[in-house]
Amino acid sequence: RPSSSQMENGCSLSGANCRAKGGAPGFKVAILGAAGGIGQPLALLMKMNPLVSVLHLYDIVNTPGITADVSHMDTGAVVRGFVGQPQLEDALTGMDLVIIPAGVPRKPGMTRDDLFNINAGIVKNLCEGIAKCCPKATVNIISNPVNSTVPIAAEVFKRAGTYDPKRLLGVTMLDVVRANTFVAEVLGLDPREVDVPVVGGHAGVTILPLLSQVKPSCNFTKEEIEYITNRIQNGGTEVVEAKAGAGSATLSMAYAAVKFADACLRGLRGDAGVVECAFVDSQVTELPFFASKVRLGRNGVEEIHQLGPLNEYERAGLEKAKKELSGSIEKGVAFVRK
Ligand code: NAD
Ligand code: LMR
Repeated sequence: RPSSSQMENGCSLSGANCRAKGGAPGFKVAILGAAGGIGQPLALLMKMNPLVSVLHLYDIVNTPGITADVSHMDTGAVVRGFVGQPQLEDALTGMDLVIIPAGVPRKPGMTRDDLFNINAGIVKNLCEGIAKCCPKATVNIISNPVNSTVPIAAEVFKRAGTYDPKRLLGVTMLDVVRANTFVAEVLGLDPREVDVPVVGGHAGVTILPLLSQVKPSCNFTKEEIEYITNRIQNGGTEVVEAKAGAGSATLSMAYAAVKFADACLRGLRGDAGVVECAFVDSQVTELPFFASKVRLGRNGVEEIHQLGPLNEYERAGLEKAKKELSGSIEKGVAFVRK
């Protein structure tokens, strides 16, 4: 039960008078960075998810107000708010899934790697809390640069002796969401009917859409392939520039994060055939981490799909992606080992 400084649904009745303590059956989910541009709409959408019974909202600021607000929604999940480092352990204890959108976003002119100096320490600190309080939780990392923050999380868990590669996933779902949207625009289709695998990582040329494997199957001209690939690789920058200093993608990211978290929860529940792209500990290439389609199950990542046949354009893209990814992964590992 949370201490009096934490907030649970705002119900001021106590003991036998307040009956709403258990929550519906389902999963316990924590959002770390819940007061941010992504965190707030993510909290809203996770409160609407019927698979969630308990929702913990943690940030270093502002979670009491957000918790009070979201908790008034007449959906099943019990919402509890936690603010500041002293409440991190309570926020994490007992969680099945931890989603991390904590950290600073880009401004125009910055790369995701420019966020490393601040976000690496934030992710390290939060993962140390996870290793201590919910070592078996599935972890979804959104904080950028994902190509480095996922290796950071893995190193923290290895040091703590809790690393389970099946339970650590970098969220690249926004690249897939964008790819589905942009391909659907070009083909004149409903984006919900389109499935584009996006592999590699989550920054610039490491974002590699496999347009030869789009479903429904179709042929693109060379010009279309270059246009769509560039638009997907620069989708984040397109939003950063349009927001003109007010941050990066938050609403489409919250949508993508919930789509991905819901897939993780359906996998944990035992649903069959849950397959999404994610940046994971992988042997698909010679790199230790790589994004590709993965099958999600009761233990997290149950199977990692191979890349399948690539055309010449994609093979060249893969070489570029691997070169950049390798440095980003090493940078993350070195940050924890140093
Ligand atoms: P934001 O600044 O609006 O929110 C970040 C939140 O993190 C803030 O509320 C802040 O208080 C909180 N925070 C900072 N330090 C913390 C700590 N130690 N513990 C807990 N919370 C802490 O930023 P945003 O727009 O929500 O973006 C967050 C991150 O997500 C950025 O790094 C951004 O680049 C990344 N992002 C990733 C993707 C992706 O596809 N993976 C997409 C969009 C944004
Ligand atoms: C995105 O792809 O929108 C995010 O990674 C945020 C960013 O900095 O572009």
